[in-house]
Amino acid sequence: MKIAIGSDHAGFRAKEFLKAALIASGYQVEDMGTKSEDSVDYTDFAIAVSERVTKGLAERGVILCGTGIGSCIAANKVHGVRAALVHDGFTAEMSRRHNDANVLCLGARVLAEDRIRDLTKLWLETPFDGGRHERRLGKIASYEKTQC
Ligand code: RB5
Repeated sequence: MKIAIGSDHAGFRAKEFLKAALIASGYQVEDMGTKSEDSVDYTDFAIAVSERVTKGLAERGVILCGTGIGSCIAANKVHGVRAALVHDGFTAEMSRRHNDANVLCLGARVLAEDRIRDLTKLWLETPFDGGRHERRLGKIASYEKTQC
């Protein structure tokens, strides 16, 4: 599976850790930046990662900022993105099973690096349940197409 990954300065160290862990686990990882701890805007990296997913150039996206909140807000403005802010195993699993989330947002100032790695792997490995959830996601997609 090809993953696009990105962060702002607050998520930079965690991104580097996670990137190495995902590559070691056999994932193909495309790093959209940032490339240092110099201050940047999370917006740019969240949108860059999200666009890789919606253009079909990555199957999933993972974004890290301080809280994950700003990245999640920005990512969800990109048409076709279903970004989930995840803090624990339950939200990681349910964001895949019920929401078919295609972008994962994590707070590098909230979670330890090993937790970030474990939650990301759980999120990547959990399938979408489909069924009644398809209808609900269809309503979101329809609203996005006609009203946004
Ligand atoms: C950067 O200081 C911080 O605001 C950012 O990483 C993120 O937490 C925003 O939601």
